[in-house]
Amino acid sequence: MLYNSIKVPSEIIHKWQEIVDVLAEIMHVPSALIMRVEPPNIKVFVSSESKGNPYEADELAPLNTGLYCETVMKTCQPLLVPDALRDEAWKSNPDIKLGMISYLGVPISWPDGEVFGTICVLDNKRNEYSKPYLRLLHQLRDAVQIDLQSLAAQHKQLEERETKIRRLVDANIIGIYIWELDGRLLEANDTFLRMVGYDREDLISGGVRWTDLTPLEWRDRTARAQEELKRTGAVQPFEKEYLRKDGSRVPVLIGSAAFDEQRDQGVAFVLNLTERKQAEAEARESEGRYREALMELAHVNRVTTMGQLTASISHEMKQPIGAVVANAEAALNWLDAQPPELNRVRQTLGWIIRDSLRAGEIIGRIQGLIKKAPPRREEMEINAAVLEIIALTRGEVVKNGVSVRTHLAEGLPLIRVDRVQLQQVVLNLIINAVEAMSAVREEPRELLICTDRDALNGVLVSLRDSGPGLDPASLEHVFDPFYTTKPSGMGMGLSICRSIVEAHGGRIWAGANETRGAVFQFSLPLERDETISAEYAGQCRLSEKADTESESESPFSPTADVSTEIGRRA
Ligand SMILES: Nc1ncnc2c1ncn2[C@@H]1O[C@H](COP(=O)(O)OP(=O)(O)OP(=O)(O)O)[C@@H](O)[C@H]1O
Ligand SMILES: [Mg+2]
Repeated sequence: MLYNSIKVPSEIIHKWQEIVDVLAEIMHVPSALIMRVEPPNIKVFVSSESKGNPYEADELAPLNTGLYCETVMKTCQPLLVPDALRDEAWKSNPDIKLGMISYLGVPISWPDGEVFGTICVLDNKRNEYSKPYLRLLHQLRDAVQIDLQSLAAQHKQLEERETKIRRLVDANIIGIYIWELDGRLLEANDTFLRMVGYDREDLISGGVRWTDLTPLEWRDRTARAQEELKRTGAVQPFEKEYLRKDGSRVPVLIGSAAFDEQRDQGVAFVLNLTERKQAEAEARESEGRYREALMELAHVNRVTTMGQLTASISHEMKQPIGAVVANAEAALNWLDAQPPELNRVRQTLGWIIRDSLRAGEIIGRIQGLIKKAPPRREEMEINAAVLEIIALTRGEVVKNGVSVRTHLAEGLPLIRVDRVQLQQVVLNLIINAVEAMSAVREEPRELLICTDRDALNGVLVSLRDSGPGLDPASLEHVFDPFYTTKPSGMGMGLSICRSIVEAHGGRIWAGANETRGAVFQFSLPLERDETISAEYAGQCRLSEKADTESESESPFSPTADVSTEIGRRA
């Protein structure tokens, strides 16, 4: 390993300064030095702050000029020169020019034996440097070498980490570049360059700047990321776009980390999101197509079901229209009276208006169910929606000798749903129940429709019939498309119910009724911001529950009448 390039951190240099200062003081010499070899020179690395010391830190002296230290490094042995002037071998060495005529030095090495330099003392007079001094020099040299050991270990770790990063960069699995705060890219791997459509020459010539790669409308987001980097030293991955060399855009996911505390250089990891975005768009498109098909199907199902109900609906319409005719005749009679009974006429006209409006409402509801309109969510009361469908199916129910009872909880929170779709669910479930009950001879034929709050604070609707019920084998399949046991059934009713309920974030399931028959239930959640008011409403409702659960009049008294009426007629 090459240690020559390792930078010695300032705190270690401070420590070594202490060492040479103490050394000079104890040995009463003008110079104590730590020298570092930096071919072709040797450098005064640390020099004692002592009187008469001619050496200054960072001074360089060329090698191969007969320096004392050079010999120490070459031989890797201590060297003692008590008086160079009287020593043939040393009398012309370069240090004499600085007045240093005696020398004691020992080599300093890196852990693998590579020479770092020397630790030495020099004097301007003859000096024998007794044995304990040499021992002291060795001790201090060992202290310096321990520092070198830990530096080398750190360096090794860094190198290993760098090798790993380099492997990641070169693997070209994701785009990686090394940035400078001012916009320059110091390095980038092929994956990144390909992503943005530049080549290596562009990078080398400084033609790729991350600041220029960012389109105008992404500058704000990028500025926020830079803020985050300054604060925390890293940027959590976020999505943005880059401008490619040809002006087109590439969607990317980018994360970044600064190298050090200054945070003006770092590495960025870039993932190309083009394919993912395409896949998402395709998924959205096919989801859209699926939804469209489903809506189409739901509409067909509604129209067919309503067709099935024509007789029952016309019966429903006949009532108010018949009343209008009867009241109009009565009004004419009151007018013909002598004198005309105007008050009675006024009252009768009032009834005519009421009945006409009722007929209009029924037509409106039927239109709503038959019309093909885009889905639209609105806040509504589940009870009102259920009662409207009960009214629409009344004829069918009566015809089949079924009695319908309702059990509608008061104070339920409003839910945000598509009215037509929700009513379609209730409609399908009622028709199924009626069909199931009319297929068997058993009497009485009863359908109990309840609304309540579900465990998660949404609303729960259940329909219990006294039909043949579901055997366990069919229970698994009733919601499957095209599963039917009826000769003229399509098997789509329940599958559409499930799609609608699930599209509203709810759940639908079936089971056995307590005594006989089947139970179909579905729950619809509240939207999040409604949960709080719902919880509050729940507390208020507890006290009312006893009342509402007995079959007293529901808040929708006109239609609640309908349900008891149905019971009576059946
Ligand atoms: N209340 C019920 N009691 C007993 N079985 C039922 C009841 N509701 C549904 N089923 C069973 O589930 C099957 C599927 O119902 P679904 O509504 O999906 O289709 P369908 O009624 O057969 O035909 P479609 O509704 O498309 O005209 C029915 O054929 C029937 O066997
Ligand atoms: Mg059905």
